[in-house]
Amino acid sequence: MDYMLKLSAFLHVLVALLILQLCNHTNLCYSATPTLVPNKTYFNYITTSCNVTRYPKLCYKSLSIFAAKIKTNPKVLAQTALNVSLAATETTSVVLNRLSKTQGLNPAESAALRDCIELIDDSSYELQGSMREMRRLASENFSFGISNILTWASAALTNCVTCMDGFEGNDNIMDEEVKDSVLRHARKVCRLTSNSLALVNSYASGDQG
Ligand SMILES: *[C@@H]1O[C@H](CO)[C@@H](O)[C@H](O)[C@H]1NC(C)=O
Ligand SMILES: *[C@@H]1O[C@H](CO)[C@@H](O)[C@H](O)[C@H]1NC(C)=O
Ligand SMILES: *[C@@H]1O[C@H](CO)[C@@H](O)[C@H](O)[C@H]1NC(C)=O
Ligand SMILES: *[C@@H]1O[C@H](CO)[C@@H](O)[C@H](O)[C@H]1NC(C)=O
Repeated sequence: MDYMLKLSAFLHVLVALLILQLCNHTNLCYSATPTLVPNKTYFNYITTSCNVTRYPKLCYKSLSIFAAKIKTNPKVLAQTALNVSLAATETTSVVLNRLSKTQGLNPAESAALRDCIELIDDSSYELQGSMREMRRLASENFSFGISNILTWASAALTNCVTCMDGFEGNDNIMDEEVKDSVLRHARKVCRLTSNSLALVNSYASGDQG
Protein backbone atom coordinates (compact mmCIF):
# COMPACT_ATOMS: atom_id res chain seq x y z
CA MET A 1 0.00 0.00 0.00
CA ASP A 2 2.68 2.42 1.08
CA TYR A 3 4.67 1.40 -1.96
CA MET A 4 1.68 2.02 -4.27
CA LEU A 5 1.20 5.53 -2.84
CA LYS A 6 4.84 6.36 -3.40
CA LEU A 7 4.68 5.02 -6.94
CA SER A 8 1.56 7.05 -7.65
CA ALA A 9 3.17 10.24 -6.30
CA PHE A 10 6.27 9.52 -8.35
CA LEU A 11 4.20 9.08 -11.50
CA HIS A 12 2.38 12.34 -10.91
CA VAL A 13 5.66 14.21 -10.60
CA LEU A 14 6.94 12.50 -13.72
CA VAL A 15 3.88 13.50 -15.75
CA ALA A 16 4.14 17.09 -14.50
CA LEU A 17 7.81 17.20 -15.50
CA LEU A 18 7.04 15.79 -18.92
CA ILE A 19 4.35 18.41 -19.52
CA LEU A 20 6.75 21.12 -18.45
CA GLN A 21 9.36 19.81 -20.87
CA LEU A 22 6.80 19.73 -23.66
CA CYS A 23 5.88 23.35 -22.90
CA ASN A 24 9.49 24.49 -22.81
CA HIS A 25 10.54 22.80 -26.01
CA THR A 26 7.51 23.30 -28.20
CA ASN A 27 4.82 25.92 -28.77
CA LEU A 28 2.09 23.48 -27.83
CA CYS A 29 1.18 25.07 -24.53
CA TYR A 30 0.96 28.55 -26.02
CA SER A 31 -0.67 27.85 -29.36
CA ALA A 32 -3.97 26.84 -27.79
CA THR A 33 -4.26 30.15 -25.93
CA PRO A 34 -2.37 32.82 -27.89
CA THR A 35 -4.01 35.70 -25.99
CA LEU A 36 -2.33 34.54 -22.77
CA VAL A 37 1.14 34.99 -24.23
CA PRO A 38 1.49 38.76 -23.71
CA ASN A 39 2.92 39.59 -20.38
CA LYS A 40 0.61 40.70 -17.54
CA THR A 41 2.23 44.13 -17.46
CA TYR A 42 0.59 44.86 -20.82
CA PHE A 43 -2.91 43.99 -19.60
CA ASN A 44 -2.41 46.05 -16.46
CA TYR A 45 -1.27 48.94 -18.61
CA ILE A 46 -4.51 48.81 -20.62
CA THR A 47 -6.63 48.58 -17.46
CA THR A 48 -4.90 51.60 -15.94
CA SER A 49 -5.03 53.62 -19.17
CA CYS A 50 -8.69 52.80 -19.73
CA ASN A 51 -9.45 54.19 -16.29
CA VAL A 52 -9.30 57.73 -17.75
CA THR A 53 -12.02 56.95 -20.29
CA ARG A 54 -15.74 57.35 -19.85
CA TYR A 55 -16.44 53.69 -20.71
CA PRO A 56 -13.54 51.79 -19.11
CA LYS A 57 -15.05 48.31 -19.50
CA LEU A 58 -15.69 48.76 -23.21
CA CYS A 59 -12.22 50.27 -23.50
CA TYR A 60 -10.56 47.25 -21.91
CA LYS A 61 -12.73 44.78 -23.82
CA SER A 62 -11.94 46.40 -27.17
CA LEU A 63 -8.21 46.91 -26.62
CA SER A 64 -6.98 44.01 -24.52
CA ILE A 65 -6.95 41.74 -27.60
CA PHE A 66 -4.23 44.03 -28.98
CA ALA A 67 -2.15 43.94 -25.77
CA ALA A 68 0.83 42.30 -27.48
CA LYS A 69 0.96 45.11 -30.02
CA ILE A 70 0.22 47.98 -27.63
CA LYS A 71 2.67 46.84 -24.94
CA THR A 72 2.96 49.96 -22.77
CA ASN A 73 3.13 52.47 -25.61
CA PRO A 74 0.59 55.32 -25.23
CA LYS A 75 0.81 56.27 -28.89
CA VAL A 76 0.09 52.76 -30.13
CA LEU A 77 -2.71 52.57 -27.54
CA ALA A 78 -4.38 55.73 -28.87
CA GLN A 79 -3.79 54.70 -32.46
CA THR A 80 -5.33 51.28 -31.86
CA ALA A 81 -8.33 52.85 -30.10
CA LEU A 82 -8.96 55.07 -33.13
CA ASN A 83 -8.63 52.05 -35.39
CA VAL A 84 -11.16 50.08 -33.33
CA SER A 85 -13.56 53.04 -33.59
CA LEU A 86 -13.02 53.11 -37.32
CA ALA A 87 -13.77 49.39 -37.61
CA ALA A 88 -17.00 49.98 -35.64
CA THR A 89 -18.11 52.69 -38.09
CA GLU A 90 -17.55 50.23 -40.93
CA THR A 91 -19.61 47.50 -39.26
CA THR A 92 -22.32 50.03 -38.40
CA SER A 93 -22.41 51.27 -41.96
CA VAL A 94 -23.08 47.75 -43.25
CA VAL A 95 -25.86 47.26 -40.66
CA LEU A 96 -27.49 50.62 -41.46
CA ASN A 97 -27.45 49.94 -45.18
CA ARG A 98 -29.13 46.61 -44.58
CA LEU A 99 -31.75 48.19 -42.26
CA SER A 100 -32.52 50.85 -44.86
CA LYS A 101 -33.90 48.06 -47.07
CA THR A 102 -36.40 47.01 -44.38
CA GLN A 103 -39.89 46.72 -45.85
CA GLY A 104 -42.58 49.14 -44.72
CA LEU A 105 -40.46 51.90 -43.20
CA ASN A 106 -42.35 55.17 -42.88
CA PRO A 107 -40.88 58.35 -44.46
CA ALA A 108 -39.48 59.60 -41.14
CA GLU A 109 -37.72 56.30 -40.50
CA SER A 110 -36.26 56.20 -44.00
CA ALA A 111 -35.07 59.79 -43.67
CA ALA A 112 -33.49 59.20 -40.25
CA LEU A 113 -31.72 56.12 -41.57
CA ARG A 114 -30.42 57.95 -44.65
CA ASP A 115 -29.09 60.70 -42.38
CA CYS A 116 -27.41 58.13 -40.12
CA ILE A 117 -25.75 56.37 -43.03
CA GLU A 118 -24.27 59.67 -44.15
CA LEU A 119 -23.26 60.70 -40.62
CA ILE A 120 -21.56 57.39 -39.81
CA ASP A 121 -19.75 57.45 -43.14
CA ASP A 122 -18.56 60.96 -42.24
CA SER A 123 -17.38 59.62 -38.87
CA SER A 124 -15.48 56.93 -40.71
CA TYR A 125 -13.79 59.48 -42.96
CA GLU A 126 -12.95 61.67 -39.96
CA LEU A 127 -11.47 58.80 -37.96
CA GLN A 128 -9.28 58.01 -40.96
CA GLY A 129 -8.22 61.67 -40.95
CA SER A 130 -7.43 61.40 -37.27
CA MET A 131 -5.29 58.29 -37.82
CA ARG A 132 -3.48 59.91 -40.74
CA GLU A 133 -2.54 62.88 -38.52
CA MET A 134 -1.40 60.42 -35.87
CA ARG A 135 0.99 58.81 -38.38
CA ARG A 136 2.35 62.22 -39.44
CA LEU A 137 2.95 63.30 -35.84
CA ALA A 138 6.54 64.24 -35.09
CA SER A 139 8.20 65.87 -32.10
CA GLU A 140 8.66 69.20 -33.95
CA ASN A 141 4.93 69.57 -34.64
CA PHE A 142 3.55 67.59 -31.70
CA SER A 143 0.93 70.00 -30.32
CA PHE A 144 -0.21 71.03 -33.80
CA GLY A 145 -0.59 67.38 -34.77
CA ILE A 146 -2.44 66.47 -31.55
CA SER A 147 -4.83 69.33 -32.10
CA ASN A 148 -5.58 68.03 -35.62
CA ILE A 149 -6.06 64.49 -34.33
CA LEU A 150 -8.52 65.75 -31.69
CA THR A 151 -10.37 67.94 -34.20
CA TRP A 152 -10.96 65.01 -36.55
CA ALA A 153 -11.97 62.61 -33.77
CA SER A 154 -14.30 65.18 -32.16
CA ALA A 155 -16.04 65.66 -35.50
CA ALA A 156 -16.48 61.88 -35.72
CA LEU A 157 -18.06 61.85 -32.24
CA THR A 158 -20.39 64.76 -33.09
CA ASN A 159 -21.66 63.03 -36.22
CA CYS A 160 -22.25 59.82 -34.35
CA VAL A 161 -24.21 61.62 -31.62
CA THR A 162 -26.24 63.43 -34.28
CA CYS A 163 -27.15 60.06 -35.80
CA MET A 164 -28.44 58.86 -32.41
CA ASP A 165 -30.37 62.10 -31.88
CA GLY A 166 -32.30 61.39 -35.09
CA PHE A 167 -33.72 58.25 -33.49
CA GLU A 168 -33.85 59.03 -29.76
CA GLY A 169 -36.93 61.02 -28.82
CA ASN A 170 -38.14 61.08 -32.44
CA ASP A 171 -41.90 60.42 -32.15
CA ASN A 172 -42.17 59.47 -35.82
CA ILE A 173 -39.94 56.42 -35.39
CA MET A 174 -42.36 53.50 -34.91
CA ASP A 175 -40.28 50.47 -35.76
CA GLU A 176 -38.71 49.57 -32.41
CA GLU A 177 -36.57 46.84 -33.88
CA VAL A 178 -34.93 49.16 -36.40
CA LYS A 179 -34.57 51.87 -33.76
CA ASP A 180 -32.92 49.55 -31.24
CA SER A 181 -30.51 48.18 -33.80
CA VAL A 182 -29.47 51.64 -35.04
CA LEU A 183 -29.03 52.95 -31.51
CA ARG A 184 -27.08 49.92 -30.32
CA HIS A 185 -24.59 50.16 -33.17
CA ALA A 186 -24.30 53.95 -33.19
CA ARG A 187 -23.89 54.03 -29.41
CA LYS A 188 -20.92 51.69 -29.69
CA VAL A 189 -19.27 53.94 -32.28
CA CYS A 190 -19.89 57.01 -30.09
CA ARG A 191 -18.53 55.33 -26.95
CA LEU A 192 -15.45 53.94 -28.66
CA THR A 193 -14.78 57.35 -30.19
CA SER A 194 -15.24 59.08 -26.85
CA ASN A 195 -12.74 56.64 -25.36
CA SER A 196 -10.29 57.28 -28.22
CA LEU A 197 -10.44 61.02 -27.56
CA ALA A 198 -9.62 60.42 -23.89
CA LEU A 199 -6.69 58.16 -24.81
CA VAL A 200 -5.32 60.68 -27.34
CA ASN A 201 -5.58 63.35 -24.65
CA SER A 202 -3.75 61.27 -22.11
CA TYR A 203 -1.06 60.41 -24.68
CA ALA A 204 -0.69 64.14 -25.43
CA SER A 205 -0.42 65.11 -21.78
CA GLY A 206 2.03 62.37 -20.85
CA ASP A 207 5.44 61.73 -22.34
CA GLN A 208 5.64 61.37 -26.10
CA GLY A 209 6.82 57.75 -26.00
C1 LIG B 1 6.88 42.05 -18.79
O1 LIG B 1 7.31 43.18 -19.52
C2 LIG B 1 7.90 44.21 -18.72
C3 LIG B 1 8.13 45.41 -19.59
O2 LIG B 1 8.52 45.08 -20.89
C4 LIG B 1 9.18 43.65 -18.10
O3 LIG B 1 9.78 44.64 -17.29
C5 LIG B 1 8.82 42.44 -17.25
O4 LIG B 1 9.99 41.85 -16.74
C6 LIG B 1 8.06 41.40 -18.06
N1 LIG B 1 7.57 40.36 -17.18
C7 LIG B 1 7.54 39.09 -17.53
C8 LIG B 1 6.98 38.15 -16.53
O5 LIG B 1 7.96 38.70 -18.62
C1 LIG C 1 -9.35 53.40 -11.50
O1 LIG C 1 -10.06 54.47 -10.93
C2 LIG C 1 -10.73 54.17 -9.74
C3 LIG C 1 -11.47 55.41 -9.27
O2 LIG C 1 -12.12 56.02 -10.34
C4 LIG C 1 -9.74 53.72 -8.69
O3 LIG C 1 -10.42 53.33 -7.52
C5 LIG C 1 -8.96 52.54 -9.23
O4 LIG C 1 -7.96 52.19 -8.29
C6 LIG C 1 -8.31 52.87 -10.54
N1 LIG C 1 -7.69 51.68 -11.07
C7 LIG C 1 -6.49 51.70 -11.65
C8 LIG C 1 -5.99 50.39 -12.14
O5 LIG C 1 -5.85 52.72 -11.80
C1 LIG D 1 -6.12 48.96 -38.27
O1 LIG D 1 -6.92 47.79 -38.38
C2 LIG D 1 -6.70 47.07 -39.58
C3 LIG D 1 -7.65 45.88 -39.57
O2 LIG D 1 -8.94 46.28 -39.25
C4 LIG D 1 -5.27 46.62 -39.63
O3 LIG D 1 -5.04 45.96 -40.87
C5 LIG D 1 -4.33 47.82 -39.51
O4 LIG D 1 -3.00 47.38 -39.44
C6 LIG D 1 -4.66 48.60 -38.27
N1 LIG D 1 -3.83 49.80 -38.20
C7 LIG D 1 -3.35 50.28 -37.05
C8 LIG D 1 -2.53 51.51 -37.15
O5 LIG D 1 -3.56 49.76 -35.97
C1 LIG E 1 5.26 66.88 -38.78
O1 LIG E 1 6.61 66.75 -39.07
C2 LIG E 1 6.93 65.59 -39.80
C3 LIG E 1 8.43 65.47 -39.89
O2 LIG E 1 8.99 66.68 -40.35
C4 LIG E 1 6.24 65.65 -41.17
O3 LIG E 1 6.54 64.49 -41.91
C5 LIG E 1 4.75 65.73 -40.96
O4 LIG E 1 4.09 65.89 -42.19
C6 LIG E 1 4.43 66.90 -40.05
N1 LIG E 1 3.02 66.80 -39.68
C7 LIG E 1 2.19 67.80 -39.84
C8 LIG E 1 0.79 67.56 -39.37
O5 LIG E 1 2.51 68.89 -40.31
